[in-house]
Amino acid sequence: MKQYENFHIVDHPLIQHKLTLIREKTTGHKIFRELVTEVATLVAFELTRDLATIPTEIVTPMMATTGNTVSGKDVVLVPILRAGLGMVDGLIQLIPNARVGYVGMERDEETHKPVHYYFKVPKQPENRSFIILDPMLATGGTAIATANSLKDLGATRIKFMCLIAAPEGREAFCETHPDIEVYTASLDEKLDDNKYIIPGLGDAGDRLFGTK
Ligand code: URA
Repeated sequence: MKQYENFHIVDHPLIQHKLTLIREKTTGHKIFRELVTEVATLVAFELTRDLATIPTEIVTPMMATTGNTVSGKDVVLVPILRAGLGMVDGLIQLIPNARVGYVGMERDEETHKPVHYYFKVPKQPENRSFIILDPMLATGGTAIATANSLKDLGATRIKFMCLIAAPEGREAFCETHPDIEVYTASLDEKLDDNKYIIPGLGDAGDRLFGTK
């Protein structure tokens, strides 16, 4: 299997544990939602390893010293509607100053390509670090289109984060955007005929929002 240097699996034992509970079909939407938030936080911990820090003068009870702080104001989370919304809180817990853009995608009836029905991100994208959020990297179509749109606006610092990726989505995304680092909790086996990830977790949006 081809290796992709920009593809990272964060498979800490605690992440594996929580992801296993998420996958279990009897897990209801309340617990599912809480676990998605927790796993998103844990994967984001690794994704944000290169966040810029600001030397900050402080005084401890013992002496004056210089620490490091993170502003996070230039970070923009970009959840892809609707399942990406389930990951936002997990990242906000780590980067409370992050901004949040939104992307809604649907398939064009004629071209069958993903197109935006909603796209809202902060101004001056060239000065910001974007983190695209979607729990499932299945075919990669919407994630690729979202990254294309951000690049068209002038964004140069983009990462993509999911919870579960299919080999098909990994290949499509990493071949199209080798400059975008991808972070996931798992690389699963394959897609089924309906483009669902196997073994996966089913429909992430329905399970997050209790719509099935
Ligand atoms: N989207 C989902 O919600 N689940 C999948 O398995 C694939 C795409």
